[in-house]
Amino acid sequence: MKLKEIQQQYHQELDLIYGKEEVDSFFFLLIESFYGMTRIKLAIDSEASVENGAKMLEALEQLKDEQPIQYIIGETEFFGLPFKVNPYTLIPRPETEELVEWIIKHQPKLNHETLNILDIGTGSGCIAISLAKNIPTAKVYALDVSPGALSTAKQNAELNNVSIEFIEANILNSETWSDDFKNEKFSIIVSNPPYVREQEKQLMKPNVLNNEPHLALFVKDENPLLFYKAIAQFASTNLEPQGALFFEINEFLGREMIHLLTTNNFVNIQLKQDIFKKDRMIKGEKN
Ligand SMILES: C[S@@+](CC[C@H](N)C(=O)[O-])C[C@H]1O[C@@H](n2cnc3c(N)ncnc32)[C@H](O)[C@@H]1O
Repeated sequence: MKLKEIQQQYHQELDLIYGKEEVDSFFFLLIESFYGMTRIKLAIDSEASVENGAKMLEALEQLKDEQPIQYIIGETEFFGLPFKVNPYTLIPRPETEELVEWIIKHQPKLNHETLNILDIGTGSGCIAISLAKNIPTAKVYALDVSPGALSTAKQNAELNNVSIEFIEANILNSETWSDDFKNEKFSIIVSNPPYVREQEKQLMKPNVLNNEPHLALFVKDENPLLFYKAIAQFASTNLEPQGALFFEINEFLGREMIHLLTTNNFVNIQLKQDIFKKDRMIKGEKN
């Protein structure tokens, strides 16, 4: 089957949903992932054809169904590293890369012999793994309640050749925590927990709403800081002195987050905006 013909079919069936440019970008990502064919090769050889065009037609149906391209390909990039993703894992976002960058810049301030880092709600493992890769002296722990997410995160640790201690537990329920975990002290605790309020569902794109795991995304309108409260409390006892707590946050709840960290006795609290000028992350240090 000629690739140019498939590309034409993509435009016919998808341009109205995504626009021409995005359809081209999906098409080129797919031919590279399925056949190792780059857009330049296709430009040079406009007659290029593939034996198994069925894969491209199946992906076309998935795109019509507004499934995220990352799930169709099964992989994405975060902080310059490859990550497997599937419907058990949130697709890592660029805002989260900014959080990782902030932590990497902060860590030389910590004068600890062993730097123990804990990532709560690890999902694909993107935060934990990129920290392990960029702070090779650190011992990194990654926790999630979802066995499906943890299994993917383990594959991603192997794929990126880093060693991570994985923990299956519910951060909201201390009865699910092992004694080792309860007693471990950390230099840095980081979390990008579920923070989208049910009332914000209407602001979300259907491809996110209908495909990404709701366990990773949503909290009840009445208690949007549920995870932050539990994690700040855990961090109050399990961070070493001068240890730091980093959160990705809901852009509408920056003030409430400052209040939460203040009432939990954190100091040097800093609210930070992402590149889109939205309140997106916060840091507090233990006294
Ligand atoms: C917003 S996602 C973040 C995923 C990943 N860290 C990232 O930044 O892309 C939140 C993660 O928290 C996990 N999670 C939800 N409820 C949890 C709980 N009660 N205890 C631990 N993890 C939980 C979800 O499975 C999901 O992987």
